[in-house]
Amino acid sequence: MKISLSNESITTLRTDLLALGVRSPKPARDPLLAKLDRSLGGVLTRCIKDEEFTGKKDEKLEIPAHGRVRARRLLLVGLGPDKDRNDESDARRLAVTAARAAKSRSSVALVATADDPASLRAAVEGAVNGSYQFTRYLTGKRKPKRKLGKAVILIKSAPTAADTAVVRQGEAVAEAVNLARDLINITANDMSPAFLADIAAEQCKAAGIACKVYDKKGVEKLGMPLLLAVNQGGSREPRFVHMTYKPVDAPKGGPRVVFVGKGLTFDSGGLCLKPPGSMMNMKSDMAGAAVTLGILVAAARLGLPLEVHGLIPSTDNMTGGNAYRPGDVFPSREGKTVEIVNTDAEGRLILADALAYAAEMKPDYLIDHATLTGACTVALGDYCTGLFCDDEPLVESYLKAAARTGEAYWRLPLDTELRDQLKSKIADIKHTGSRMGGAITAALFLKEFVGNSPWMHLDTAGPAFLDKPHGLLPQGGTGFGVLTAVRFLENLVTA
Ligand code: BES
Ligand code: MN
Ligand code: ZN
Repeated sequence: MKISLSNESITTLRTDLLALGVRSPKPARDPLLAKLDRSLGGVLTRCIKDEEFTGKKDEKLEIPAHGRVRARRLLLVGLGPDKDRNDESDARRLAVTAARAAKSRSSVALVATADDPASLRAAVEGAVNGSYQFTRYLTGKRKPKRKLGKAVILIKSAPTAADTAVVRQGEAVAEAVNLARDLINITANDMSPAFLADIAAEQCKAAGIACKVYDKKGVEKLGMPLLLAVNQGGSREPRFVHMTYKPVDAPKGGPRVVFVGKGLTFDSGGLCLKPPGSMMNMKSDMAGAAVTLGILVAAARLGLPLEVHGLIPSTDNMTGGNAYRPGDVFPSREGKTVEIVNTDAEGRLILADALAYAAEMKPDYLIDHATLTGACTVALGDYCTGLFCDDEPLVESYLKAAARTGEAYWRLPLDTELRDQLKSKIADIKHTGSRMGGAITAALFLKEFVGNSPWMHLDTAGPAFLDKPHGLLPQGGTGFGVLTAVRFLENLVTA
């Protein structure tokens, strides 16, 4: 979708849908509402009254303009009372709502709620993300004839070059979110580890990112026994992808950030088979990988002056005759031997080898995204990511970035009291504990493989994929994680 800026009047702008954020439903108090109401001969005031629109958060009122202004339809979006005002998140919410409402039309416009660069950027991201639709598997009547192609953001004065730069940045980041959504939504029969790696290579090439793909032989040579163990039960080969974004203007000695993403292209649970209901959405178990690719692409398109790496271990978790078994013991890249307990806890195994590989790079920040545990959704619900990290400044800066993107994170403890659950009688470590504190013991297991790298683990099992839309997140793959990670990186280089 193409975003442009304009300072045209709301009564003369031609568009299919014109969206306006409303804090108070009294036109007298809002000069823009008053102007529209005059053009419509008072019809707006009457509709507001008849429909009992009060302007509270997320309330919507859509009416046809009947040719009284050049926009075909008008959409009022409640932003809530002034005391709850937050320009950046209001801008994002308005833009997402407007773009969603205009999905089956070709153009949309929205009136900027504030003109500062941060709000503008949020509006651009919201418009691009709100217009997201996944139509790959639809044909005939089900295939949408039109796609929302154009969004105009109305600002107070003529757009400057700086404004336009902000628009391009917002587009780059939001398109990376949409890319991640697409990859998560593509079904497992199409999305194999090889296909995922091919897409990563293709995207990296287009964005000027170096990308090395290891096939099964390559992974064997590289030494990732746990990734290979999980792969044993399936017939599709594993992949390990190492993406390197290293701009020439990255300052020497500047921070190096390594992202790792769980790339389970389908998680059946292995021999500890999942029940059908729990297996249904397990194509989304590569969301961490998709988000990691999105972060790299966005960082490159923004031209951020720092070195960023993305690592993707990828495999299916299947039940074939050669599947790994409960009770098996495998070596790991890091050196510790691991006793397998529940084959459905495959994510931490492939991450362990990828994290060990990452730790060898001595990163300044090591951050993983993984749809790791159902226990995390039991703790936090479906819309919030569990954040595990013992590096206080890193936690603080990450949560600061998150506060500006609308993504929900909640810190959970790396509570060493639970470490005993991972004691094995026959190997160095067991890979799962009891049901209690399952998200924490998963994180404690990962911790065994990161050496002393400053590390953060993000368990996105809840918000990575949703059965129905919630807040700003769409149904299906959400791309949760890209926005905050990119903001974190931007803060690193501007701080
Ligand atoms: N991919 C799942 C976790 C998951 C569950 C993600 C629901 C998204 C939605 C993971 O591989 C898994 O199966 N974890 C097990 C761990 C257990 C066997 C220790 C779980 O959470 O049940
Ligand atoms: Mn599993
Ligand atoms: Zn899994």
